[in-house]
Amino acid sequence: MHALDMITAKRDGQRHSDAQLRAWIDAVAAGTVPDYQAAAWLMAVFLRGMDAAETHALTVAMADSGRRLDLSVLGDQVVDKHSTGGVGDKTTLVVGPLAAAMGLTVAKMSGQGLGHTGGTLDKLESVPGLKVAMSPEAIIDQARRIGLVIAGQSQDLAPADKILYALRDVTATVPSLPLIASSIMSKKLASGAPAIVLDVKVGGGAFMKTLDEARALAEAMAEIGRRSGLRMACCLSRMDAPLGRAVGNALELREAIATLRGEGPSDLHELSLTLVGLMQVLALHSGQPDHRRSEMEHALRDGSALGLLRRMIEAQGGDGRVIDEPERLPTAPVRGMVTAEASGWVTAMDAEAIGRIALDLGAGRRQKEDAVDPAVGIVMQVGLGDRIAAGRPLAEIHAQGDLTADTAAVALRRAVTITDDPLPALPAVVIEQWVRL
Ligand code: URA
Repeated sequence: MHALDMITAKRDGQRHSDAQLRAWIDAVAAGTVPDYQAAAWLMAVFLRGMDAAETHALTVAMADSGRRLDLSVLGDQVVDKHSTGGVGDKTTLVVGPLAAAMGLTVAKMSGQGLGHTGGTLDKLESVPGLKVAMSPEAIIDQARRIGLVIAGQSQDLAPADKILYALRDVTATVPSLPLIASSIMSKKLASGAPAIVLDVKVGGGAFMKTLDEARALAEAMAEIGRRSGLRMACCLSRMDAPLGRAVGNALELREAIATLRGEGPSDLHELSLTLVGLMQVLALHSGQPDHRRSEMEHALRDGSALGLLRRMIEAQGGDGRVIDEPERLPTAPVRGMVTAEASGWVTAMDAEAIGRIALDLGAGRRQKEDAVDPAVGIVMQVGLGDRIAAGRPLAEIHAQGDLTADTAAVALRRAVTITDDPLPALPAVVIEQWVRL
């Protein structure tokens, strides 16, 4: 296989065979393809695209470039969940324990946040002592005992994707449907679950800004899963305002804990129940998305879902007392309330801008190597559609210093649109959902 032949073929709009893609990805993973040739090929794919069979073959080759976890030893109640990422998206911290409380097994490898969207691992790591670096054996052992693990992605999870993603990031080739779908799904295939629920975010704070783009990504990922014999379900959910009220690591964990007590914001509650409903349909190979809704509500009220989060935290070396004593989580020294300058209705929130404000406060990372500050962030005091009077609280800022808090306050006021007229109707968080068994 010559790199030049691969580049030429794709430049001219030809399709690659499974064998060609396998050899190409093996060479990329082995480090024998120079960056300039891999980058040229990525641009050719960006411009020419790939059909469903090519996208699937690329995905499988990338998944096979590293170690693949085999979760089949845990039975067929194992279901994974993946979100394409958003602002304030702490859903995994609610969905994991709730799904485990409903008898499913969740052994999940999560990622760190990059840019304006947060990552589950950073939120979880705000618990003092908690470890996310786990061996495959430890993941399987904990999943067997508790039914719930959220671990970090191992270094050898789809290493070819890591190499290609780093090149895409600096060659303007990230926003390509086959490249995004294969990148995400290679890590999912290597994570080993036989069933996956996708939460594809749509809107200003998401990767996919329009419903059509989000649908196309969902379909492409589901098709890869289907061709690999996985059961797939998808929920398209709104990300044009932060999910819930909290944005920032420890603040989001507190909100997830409140939601697991049944006291969370309604959008997070609704999305979490929808996703766990879909996970149950996949585990049972049948049913309706609303499956066992009243039992899920019960598992929140009776503390069983929250108890599973505590058990997971303790099993991973963390301080389980944070569940009942959230003041044990890191807190920021400066807290300031931003108030509304005018009265009216909250009709828009710029989720991406709010994510960037949290990033500037230190809650996220610009470069992979950056450390995150677990304590800082924002807690919105209003939601989309609310009425607010001038001088009333808009958001609370948690910062390390007065200067960063003041800068954040100015940007926050700009990120929230207050108008004289209300929204005609409050948009639902779940836009659509479907199952492919
Ligand atoms: N997330 C990934 O893992 N890969 C992409 O290409 C985009 C988002």
